[in-house]
Amino acid sequence: MSSKILVLTVAFFCLVALLELFSIEKLDHKNGSFVTEFILLGLSGQWELQIFFFGIFSLIYGATLIGNILIMVTVTFTSTLHSPMYFLLGNLSFLDMCLSTATTPKMITDLLTEHKTISVWGCMVQMFFMHFFGGAEMILLIVMAFDRYIAICKPLHYRTIMSYRLLRGFVIFSWVIGFIHTMSQMLLTVDLPFCGYNVIDSIFCDLPLVIRLACVETYTLELFVIADSGLLSFISFIMLLISYSVILITVQQRSSGGLSKALSTLSAHIIVVTLFFGPCIFIYAWPFSNFASNKTLAVFYTVITPLLNPIIYTLRNQKMQEALRKLLFQRIVVTWNF
Ligand SMILES: *[C@@H]1O[C@H](CO)[C@@H](O)[C@H](O)[C@H]1NC(C)=O
Repeated sequence: MSSKILVLTVAFFCLVALLELFSIEKLDHKNGSFVTEFILLGLSGQWELQIFFFGIFSLIYGATLIGNILIMVTVTFTSTLHSPMYFLLGNLSFLDMCLSTATTPKMITDLLTEHKTISVWGCMVQMFFMHFFGGAEMILLIVMAFDRYIAICKPLHYRTIMSYRLLRGFVIFSWVIGFIHTMSQMLLTVDLPFCGYNVIDSIFCDLPLVIRLACVETYTLELFVIADSGLLSFISFIMLLISYSVILITVQQRSSGGLSKALSTLSAHIIVVTLFFGPCIFIYAWPFSNFASNKTLAVFYTVITPLLNPIIYTLRNQKMQEALRKLLFQRIVVTWNF
């Protein structure tokens, strides 16, 4: 199980490296397409400020990788954490790590360069992965809400309903939906001709901003992106709110004391869900307004949220903290022979 994670992680980073390599070569020789690269305005400001951001974001990204890998390792190696909830949590961590890796490293290195450019191809790759992992994460968050619903409202049937076969099916399903979601948008975007203005006022490529630069009429495509990304995030968010409300109402009707316990379990989920969906809804449900280029929102959902997830889940979870402590302590004892 653990070697699988390792292989997956290594494979992922190799893929990213390969794609970066390819995106340096200019592969765009499409007819009527003159623009081969976009200029990212990035976080503007004096270079002292850029270096400050470079330091901060590097730290955050490093912490994101370490935090999420620690969660995956802890969940895999601790037998007390072999339950559906932690299985899903481990997979959420994996997705968070990938989502952050799709945008942050490029953004961080851009902070140190004066001319921040990205090839059209690299831009497409970045958008593909962002929507792939983002879409999968939305579905996984819904699965996690479903898991809590069964655990809290049907505790006697929990083990039978949430079998590992079903869980694995859910995880694969979330990846498939993420893939369909991103492919449906990218198939319509890769063929767009870009021939004039090529400045993206953001820290990475994102669909609403890139589509606007095409030199053909893109009104239908814009509507499609709103429908695809905007509705997916909006409907998922509403579904999650409804499922959390159903859980809380069910618990309250059963006993008055259960509500506070359920609330404390669910609050971590509710915080994570709000942090993840809030910016997405602002960016995609009104993508052609100015929210789309709001850099604070962009930083939030690609840099900050992937770090907050492991922090929120570990800080609010006694069992997780204990397992983490035990794991780290054992490693230290074994490694340094205390
Ligand atoms: C995530 O899901 C995969 C495939 O269903 C599973 O094999 C793996 O153990 C899960 N990851 C973690 C860290 O639990």
